[in-house]
Amino acid sequence: MMIPIARPCLGEEEIREVKKVIESGMIAQGKLVKEFEEAFASYIGSKYAVAVSNGTAALHVALISLDVGPGDEVAVPSYTFYSTASSVILSGARPVFIDVDVRTGTMDPNNLASKITSKTKVIIPVHIHGHPADLDSIREVLGGREICILEDSAQAHGALYKGSKVGSLGEAGAFSFYPTKNMTTGEGGIITTDDEYVYEKARAIRDQGQVSKYEHHYVGFNYRMTEINAAIGIVQLKKLDEFNARRREIASIYTQELSGLVDTPFVAEWADPVWHLYPVRVGRRRDEAVKRLRYLGILARPAYPMPLQKQPVMSRLADRKYNFLHVLFKGVSYSDIETPNAEKLARELLYLPIYSCMKDEEVKEVVEKARRVFKSL
Ligand SMILES: Cc1ncc(COP(=O)(O)O)c(C=O)c1O
Repeated sequence: MMIPIARPCLGEEEIREVKKVIESGMIAQGKLVKEFEEAFASYIGSKYAVAVSNGTAALHVALISLDVGPGDEVAVPSYTFYSTASSVILSGARPVFIDVDVRTGTMDPNNLASKITSKTKVIIPVHIHGHPADLDSIREVLGGREICILEDSAQAHGALYKGSKVGSLGEAGAFSFYPTKNMTTGEGGIITTDDEYVYEKARAIRDQGQVSKYEHHYVGFNYRMTEINAAIGIVQLKKLDEFNARRREIASIYTQELSGLVDTPFVAEWADPVWHLYPVRVGRRRDEAVKRLRYLGILARPAYPMPLQKQPVMSRLADRKYNFLHVLFKGVSYSDIETPNAEKLARELLYLPIYSCMKDEEVKEVVEKARRVFKSL
């Protein structure tokens, strides 16, 4: 039997609630979406939440609601999933790539300090792998400037930064409910904020720019969540603490059993992570390690393959064939932007399977096989 890298953990309760929605005949955004938003905002400790169709849409809507657009710069970590940067491009602003702390994989505040300009409008720290970024140090770098923090919390539902839930600490937060995330709605996303302006604008942007039926005040999108997704989300949110407790338990078993053989994840003093992914640094023989694990039926995954600014699309942003917003990117080049720590993680990290419904026997099998492979490198 293969052990997957991740899997959604859904049960009878989700099936029952989805069935009820289908039988009701009311499946487009409605009262369950509202109920889910209120429950999520209250869980995170933010005043408001706006549910959308996926996590990329959450970032996109949040940026537009923070009034980001052409002429602005938005700082993003160079090691993260693609949509942290693509959502910035979609908003018309330019991403600026910041190197990461090699131990946590989160945005390095010192590198950020050297890249802030008069055009910087928003910083997007990513709580990568479920480990919170160092938000206080980032805030300190910003000083008194009018720059917002948008927390990309797509991998960190329920993670704590100095005792507070991530997504409640910046001007806005964005979450994803993709099936492999700490909780899922099928596809889905949500924006959290305490700011009434951001909240009202986000509600309109996700729904064709409407402020009331057929009254369009903004250029927006159809990024609505359905009642079916919200029904799943309401059930999953109730299980989230239990899900995260299991992820923490699995992570601590891995760390105990594998430290000494490989670099197990570092936990900063400010962080209480929720381990969306469990990363280990195995050095230059990473690809060989992934190959051997997979051969043994452990579907480990290598890191994101390169710093984001090195993705092929980033050198084509001014080319109409690759970017419909090409006119905004004339002369933009990232070819000389080096982020050595991101480079190192892309080369040396691998992820081991972790999901909340992982059975004890599966955890044991991963440990045994990973020990065998790491010793053989
Ligand atoms: C860090 C990060 N940001 C954004 C996203 C985008 O979320 P989605 O896939 O729901 O669009 C993801 C997940 O896929 C992610 O891991």
